[in-house]
Amino acid sequence: MPNLQADLLPAIHYGDFASPDDPGHPPKILLLYGSLREESFSRMAAEEGARVLRALGCETKFFDPRGLPQPDSCDADHDKVAELRELALWSEGMVWSSPERHGAMTGIMKSQIDWIPLSAIGGIRPTQGKTLAIMQVCGGSQSFNAVNQMRILGRWMRMITIPNQSSVAKAWLEFENGRMKPSSYYNRIVDVMEELVRFTVMTRGRKDALVDRYSERVETAEEVHKRVSLKQI
Ligand SMILES: Cc1cc2nc3c(=O)[nH]c(=O)nc-3n(C[C@H](O)[C@H](O)[C@H](O)COP(=O)(O)O)c2cc1C
Repeated sequence: MPNLQADLLPAIHYGDFASPDDPGHPPKILLLYGSLREESFSRMAAEEGARVLRALGCETKFFDPRGLPQPDSCDADHDKVAELRELALWSEGMVWSSPERHGAMTGIMKSQIDWIPLSAIGGIRPTQGKTLAIMQVCGGSQSFNAVNQMRILGRWMRMITIPNQSSVAKAWLEFENGRMKPSSYYNRIVDVMEELVRFTVMTRGRKDALVDRYSERVETAEEVHKRVSLKQI
């Protein structure tokens, strides 16, 4: 049986789930993967995810981690760093797909996140309040170490990490000629992408309200008070 092709997907569309505040344009999803291998299954899994996302009406972009320097080894105006940050700013939701290595996400995956600042660039925080779906591939039996870590990382980046996730066991058995074979693992990836789209269009129009924090309002008020007091001296 051929794999479910994007154009044969059951007809759900992002517009069906949009909140009344939704801006209405195709959801912009950035996909990151954590491997530099030519035949990378975590990249292929992300590519399957992107096919599904496009079938649901999304716009997708990938970042190629080749040539990305180690965090802090150069200035942030390095071409690859600038490209990654621009893509993060562009996105409304993300997919992170990492191999599990030694029971953890790869350094390549982590480096990409470490280069994306939590603080604002030009007044905009690149990750805060955006949605996130996490995926991993395993060489052995199914495990969840990388997704568990990425879930923590998603919280750290103040993202809305969706409940569903994907972990593909024995990934080397699941792909053929760059495509994923039909399986429950593939169906789970479709589930995850659908859920990502639902969460994205239900929340993106209300992002500012969702990320508003009392403690930060206090800090802002204190800053303003300090500036006014200084002016009065
Ligand atoms: C050094 C090393 C450590 C690995 N550790 C694990 C592991 O802890 N758990 C696991 O399921 N697979 C492990 N694997 C297998 C990889 O997850 C598997 O090869 C995967 O396909 C690599 O991702 P990629 O295809 O995107 O490059 C390891 C592979 C290498 C080379």
